[in-house]
Amino acid sequence: METKILFQENIALIGFMGVGKSTVAHCLRDRYGMEEAETDAMIVEAEGMAITDIFARYGEPYFRDCESRAVLKLQQYQRTVISCGGGAVMREENVANLKKSSRIVLLTAAPETILERVKNSDARPILNGHMNVEYIAELMEKRREKYEAAADLKIATDGKKVEDICQEIVEELNKSSRSVDR
Ligand code: S3P
Repeated sequence: METKILFQENIALIGFMGVGKSTVAHCLRDRYGMEEAETDAMIVEAEGMAITDIFARYGEPYFRDCESRAVLKLQQYQRTVISCGGGAVMREENVANLKKSSRIVLLTAAPETILERVKNSDARPILNGHMNVEYIAELMEKRREKYEAAADLKIATDGKKVEDICQEIVEELNKSSRSVDR
């Protein structure tokens, strides 16, 4: 009989843009029968416009308020893997709210890996006009302390297959006994 891990809490994936949160979230959903949510998608739905349009029309602080509202809503979710926008845990209140119902997993990758993944997209206003490894490395470093402080678990993703990353996440979370077998 297959033993599956039944997470009582949500898994919130945090980390820099392009680190692979959505890809890992899809994999966790498929392998472990979880629900899936994405703060950016919740914002797009609530506002009825694309992230780039929200930034362009209303500016970043407005976007961050939308993001905090999306994070608040997540408390109603169960057994859900959540991809958090790369800036979501820069606000302390979002970290505190995420922690109420989620284990927080930080995914990391080298700036060069990030650049490869994001360079052909113009959907990330924070990086538009700054599509280079120096800018990514600098912003990543500025955010590092907050990412690390928010995380219950940190997983490096460079050179790993997505399935292996998912397995690593589940094994590590399982070690800390907040999950049960069924
Ligand atoms: C942002 C990351 C984006 C999105 C917005 C701002 C950031 O999400 O929320 O463009 O400040 O890091 P992804 O991390 O999913 O790209």
